[in-house]
Formats: sequence, structure tokens, C-alpha cells
Amino acid sequence: MILSEFVNQLEPSLTLKISAKAKDMKRQGISVIDFSVGEPDFLTPDNVKSAGIEAIKQNYTKYTQSDGIPELKQAIIARLKEDDNLVYEPKEIIVSTGAKTSIYLALAATINPGEGVIVPKPYWVSYPEQVKLLGGHPVTVDTKESNNFVMTPDELAQKIDDRTKAVILNNPSNPTGSAYTPEQLYAVLQIAHKHKLFIISDEIYSKITYQDYVFKRVVSVMPEIKSHAVIIDGASKAYSMTGWRIGYTAGPENIIQAMKKIQDHVTSNPVSISQKAALEAFSCDQSFLNERTMEFQKRRDYLVQAINKIPGMKANTPQGAFYLFPNVKSLINRKHPNGTIRSSLDLCDYLLEKAHVALVPGEGFGASDNIRISFATSMDNLQEGVRRIASAIEQLQ
Ligand SMILES: Cc1ncc(COP(=O)(O)O)c(C=O)c1O
Repeated sequence: MILSEFVNQLEPSLTLKISAKAKDMKRQGISVIDFSVGEPDFLTPDNVKSAGIEAIKQNYTKYTQSDGIPELKQAIIARLKEDDNLVYEPKEIIVSTGAKTSIYLALAATINPGEGVIVPKPYWVSYPEQVKLLGGHPVTVDTKESNNFVMTPDELAQKIDDRTKAVILNNPSNPTGSAYTPEQLYAVLQIAHKHKLFIISDEIYSKITYQDYVFKRVVSVMPEIKSHAVIIDGASKAYSMTGWRIGYTAGPENIIQAMKKIQDHVTSNPVSISQKAALEAFSCDQSFLNERTMEFQKRRDYLVQAINKIPGMKANTPQGAFYLFPNVKSLINRKHPNGTIRSSLDLCDYLLEKAHVALVPGEGFGASDNIRISFATSMDNLQEGVRRIASAIEQLQ
């Protein structure tokens, strides 16, 4: 057998089936409304694009320091200080090829085969798969929708055993849009701290949070955990730079340097041009972030009330990110002319066929009662998509 045991354990992406079908339909000229996207619909800001173009013109196209150019690390350090009052040194920062790589490196630097990594569920699709790729053991924790999908200290404590090494937190969350209040976070961190767990805090949506919520980074909420916690963030979501592939990790020197050792051998530096663009993104006037968030908030407010008016759908109000995660359990077993809705995957299939709206089924996030609706699209699209969904659902028997 040529393929490794690790790769054989990986789950194929359930969502690929739907997105491949949506792409096919678009190619056939069908007007598909796409609520499945995981990236902001805003453009990379002009000044950031110009910094990238300038880098190319200046022939800034060679290898750089593996863990990121010093001026970019300084800009990240300055952001963490200014925005979160956190103090990090250059040797405590590593820039990688997107936050996805940052998470993988943080796991690779710390997890031995067979060790457990706690992953609250619903989870971002890649967490359990990355843990498995490294021979670790993902231990999922069922969170409650009635508790806004926030993991409680008891839920965490019940899953810890002597093989547990780490916990991954995602605040605010993809796919649920929910976020921990500082008090909720403190209570969970107390348990993690007591059991000396390594904390990987994926805060990639930190800059997309809504008025009724105050975001705090894990290390701000509980400074005592700083020696065994890493913060993951990056340029992708806040600055609409998903394609530039810039993520970073801030954490204790021993872990960051171990991550660097791996990065040295695996990717070397993140793209030189992207680093220059990210330097501009992190250091320019940040007020546009607020304007973008206000736009997301308008869409969120519209979508929450519109989806909750559809019989059979029930959604919590997100505190951050750009996803709504309605519960669709009461639509299971309803019938349409071509069959029965047996799962959220079936429902997404039906809504794509019937309403020409692309959505992501909850199964991929470990939540088969829900679907994910991305509101990283225009208000016109949201209104038209909701109208189509409502009409297709009305026709279910
Ligand atoms: C929760 C979460 N973490 C990490 C990432 C990956 O970010 P990047 O594009 O910087 O690799 C995503 C992107 O979808 C995400 O939703």
C-alpha cells in the first residue's frame, strides 16, 4: 500500500459534492446564489495591493527569513500591543502560509502520536483532520446550541484524561458565528490551565465582531496561560487577503521556535510579496475594518430575522465572523417530488436543485442538524437567496 495510514484516515470533504454541483450549474448559465463562501466579498484594499505590486517592481521576489521578515513581525507585535495590550517579542512570532498552516505547525510542534486534542463541536473542518494527520487523537466535545455553541468548563473537564495534550478554541467560530464572553472564556481556560493543556486559540475572525460583543484574546483574559498558549490570527479574513496566504502565531519562544524548525523544512518563508502586502495591511490606518464590520453587521441583522421567519429554520445571532448556522432539524423527513430530506446534506442538495442556492451542510462541521449560511455576499443576494429558500421550503410536504 503506497498511501499512508494517516492519509487514509482523512475524511473526504462532504461539502465538495455540493460546491462541485454549484460550479457545474453556474457553468451551465444557471443563476446560483452562493451562500457557501468562506471569505469576505470585499476586495483586498488598494493600498495593500499597491504594496504587493511595489514589492514585485522592487524585485522583492526571493527567499526571506523563514519565520517572516522582521518588519512584518514588528507590525504584528504593534497590532497586538495597540489592539489587545499584549506584549510579544520577535522570537515569539512566526508568520506562515495562511492561518491553516499556522495551526498545523502548532499541532506538529506539540502533539505526539496517540495524544488527545480536544476540539469543541461544531468545529472548523480542518481541526480534526490536521490532528489525525499527525497521528494525534481528536476528542470532540458536543456543545449545546441552547448555550450558543460555547463549550462549558464541565464539558471540557469531562473529556480530559491522561493522554490529553491540547485544546483548540475558535473564537469567534466558523461555522457557528458564536463567541465566548470573557467570563465564559476565563472559566474554560481555568480548566485547561489546571490540567496543563496546551491551548491553540484560533482567533482568525477577531477583527470581525459585532457591536453587542466585546472580543478578548485568550492571553488577555488569562495572562497566566501565556507560557502554554498560542494565538493564531492573520490577514485572510480581516483584510480580505485569503489568496495572499498570510497567517501568524504568537506564543512562547520554545513553541514558536519549534514551529520555525518545521517550517524551515516544509515551506520555508511565506511568499515574499504577500509579506510586504501584509505589512501594509497590519500597519496602515485600520478604520476601514470598522466600516466593513458595520456592513457585515447590517447583513447579519437582516439575515437572522429573515431566516427565523422561515418555518423549520431557527438561528442564533452570531457575535462574530460572517456565518449563520440555523438548525434545520424539523425539516428532516419532509418530502419533495424527488425524494425525502434525510439529512442536512440532502436539504442543501434540494435547495441547490430547487432554489439554486448553494449552502454548506452541517455534517462537515460535525453538526448534522444545521446548515451554514455565509453572509459574505451583497444584501441583494441575501434577500433574493432568502426568498428562494423560503419558497422551496414552503413546497416541502
Ligand atoms: C476558523 C478558521 N481558521 C482558519 C482558517 C484558515 O485561514 P487561512 O486562509 O489564513 O489559512 C479559516 C478559513 O476558512 C477558518 O475559518
